[in-house]
Amino acid sequence: MSHALPVSGDPHIQYRLDGAVFILQIDRPEKKNALTQGMYQALAVGIREAEASPDVKAVLLCGAPDCFTSGNDVNDFVQHETHGSERASVQFMKAMVHMRKPLVAAVNGLAIGIGTTLLMHCDLIYAAEDAFLQLPFTRLGLCPEAGSSYLAPNIMGHQRAAELLLLGERFPAAKAKEVGLVNEVLPAGEVMSYAMEKAKALAALPGEAVQTSKHLLKRQQTAVLEETIALELVNFSRLLNSEESQAILRAFLNRDS
Ligand code: COA
Repeated sequence: MSHALPVSGDPHIQYRLDGAVFILQIDRPEKKNALTQGMYQALAVGIREAEASPDVKAVLLCGAPDCFTSGNDVNDFVQHETHGSERASVQFMKAMVHMRKPLVAAVNGLAIGIGTTLLMHCDLIYAAEDAFLQLPFTRLGLCPEAGSSYLAPNIMGHQRAAELLLLGERFPAAKAKEVGLVNEVLPAGEVMSYAMEKAKALAALPGEAVQTSKHLLKRQQTAVLEETIALELVNFSRLLNSEESQAILRAFLNRDS
């Protein structure tokens, strides 16, 4: 066990070290792992601590057995707070953009909104065959975030990105693999162990070689991602303040369940 890693500052984000793999677990299953600003903060701090710790050589991001994350907590969207660059969610995005150590994701259940866009920053992604993903921004009266307006067409080409980002429909893990967003689709019960196996394989390699290689692979994206995230934020905030978007979001929160 490490003596260097801190305790998570949010009860819904767990930090764990398994060998040289730092596990960041989203743990708010009663709300389908919806992410609050406190949770983003703990995720951003976890990434920064993992980056700084000599004990860590790879990071594994996972959720609950039935949900990776349903995305941003919708309550947060209707509270008319600022959505500027100082927010913890943005700090989390930037921490991923600048990460040097490899980031592996294990996706079970569902990945909605930032649950899917954050995957575009990961290096290896494993998803359950019964999982679904969704980029529902336009359906909520919103636009892409987390750099996805740049990364999605870069990963899958314009038309496939447009299908997912403009229509905003749910899509299965198999389609995520087909468009290059997921490395492997596995039986649900095997996703976590397989992702851990791959994270450990990365962690067993010479660290400087892996980190330098990742840096070289992503080097051209860094500046454009910073710029894209800033531009997305301006538009996201504008749309979020529209009556149309607020009505859709309030309808979700006030629905009869
Ligand atoms: N923000 C806030 N609360 C959320 C949430 C979110 N993103 N996702 C789920 N929840 C809450 C629900 O309000 C519900 O709370 P309650 O038990 O107090 O009523 C609880 O989590 C369980 O969700 P529920 O909708 O009952 O489960 P479900 O299996 O029927 O549907 C989802 C799950 C994820 C498909 C559905 O909750 C959903 O569409 N969530 C919103 C996703 C979204 O739009 N995210 C923003 C992306 S930008």
